[in-house]
Amino acid sequence: MVDELITKEMVLAALRKVQEPELRSDLVSLNMIEDLVIDGGRISFTIILTTPACPLKTRIENEARAAVISIKGVKTVDIKFESNVPSDGRSRGLMQLPIRNAIAIASGKGGVGKSTVAVNVAVSLAQTGARVGLLDADIYGPNIPTMMGVVSLPPPTKEKLTPAEAYCVKLMSIGFLVKPDQPLIWRGPMLHSAIRQFLSDVEWGELDYLIVDLPPGTGDAALSLTQSLPLSGGIIVTLPQLVSLEDARRGMEMFRQLNVPILGVVENMSYLELPDGSRMDIFGTGGGEQLAKEGKVPFLGTIPIDAKVRAGGDNGRPVIIEDPKSPAANALRSIAEVIAAKISVAALEKNAAIPITILD
Ligand SMILES: Nc1ncnc2c1ncn2[C@@H]1O[C@H](COP(=O)(O)OP(=O)(O)OP(=O)(O)O)[C@@H](O)[C@H]1O
Ligand SMILES: [Mg+2]
Repeated sequence: MVDELITKEMVLAALRKVQEPELRSDLVSLNMIEDLVIDGGRISFTIILTTPACPLKTRIENEARAAVISIKGVKTVDIKFESNVPSDGRSRGLMQLPIRNAIAIASGKGGVGKSTVAVNVAVSLAQTGARVGLLDADIYGPNIPTMMGVVSLPPPTKEKLTPAEAYCVKLMSIGFLVKPDQPLIWRGPMLHSAIRQFLSDVEWGELDYLIVDLPPGTGDAALSLTQSLPLSGGIIVTLPQLVSLEDARRGMEMFRQLNVPILGVVENMSYLELPDGSRMDIFGTGGGEQLAKEGKVPFLGTIPIDAKVRAGGDNGRPVIIEDPKSPAANALRSIAEVIAAKISVAALEKNAAIPITILD
């Protein structure tokens, strides 16, 4: 008797048992399997992902492999992945970056929690299945590597720098390229070229969101950034008190002058929850909402003061990861959700997300 042949139908039947967790249907019904090749006991195929997200991808890969390897006679399973994100319509003279949405986080004032918001929003978005990059544009005081718990970059390829990765977020920071105790004396032109290089010389791959953490102030970094890539939106972080609002207004004005749509205002360190459940307004109250109202932009939410937020920043485990059920994590997650919703509405209004271009 001849050995039983493995047929395409058998492989597809096995893959019909594997669900796409988000879309709640199987890989075959969703037309996600392509290039199926059967060579004796060696099976290879490509899975076309609709949401090429890092946590889901691993799960789908494991389940698809397990399903196919269980077919009698199968020895190896080789799975490739592709995503069906529309390809770039290349324009002459423009370098295309496959980043669908770049969002900058700013404030007028330092130390209000921009980096904290950037890190936790990026991780939250990645947890929903989006492909997320985090760019530390604070080249004077880069904090993202510490906050994400990463010390160095992976080896570069011949042409480009490889971003680091933590919690399914790709990240790049000047902090990876200089020694921690080395003073950063950048002159304007160098700052501009550093930011451009972060965009053009880093292998970001395809991203649904690039979150950009801006340095404090209303300065050169934001200008360089917007000259290098069109931003889908800007977010202003403020504390509730008046002096912070004055600075935040300047941040808002900066986005306006740079023609960046303002996605909204986040109020950080809004209150401290006391052991008896009451709230103490350490920095005053309501300022963020007031600022949003007066600027006619959305208010995205408040984040309480929580020692875990600070600790998470210092030890490289964002509060979204370390204590996902805490009020601060919930607040940050819902801010990320609102941001994603606003971006998708804006994209729909524009009819489609247009790939970002960098001017040569
Ligand atoms: N809601 C919060 N509760 C407790 N600590 C917080 C909160 N938000 C931020 N922090 C802490 O406050 C400090 C300043 O936050 P962060 O570095 O995010 O601010 P920043 O605006 O990026 O500062 P800079 O302007 O220096 O870049 C950090 O130590 C951070 O962990
Ligand atoms: Mg910062």
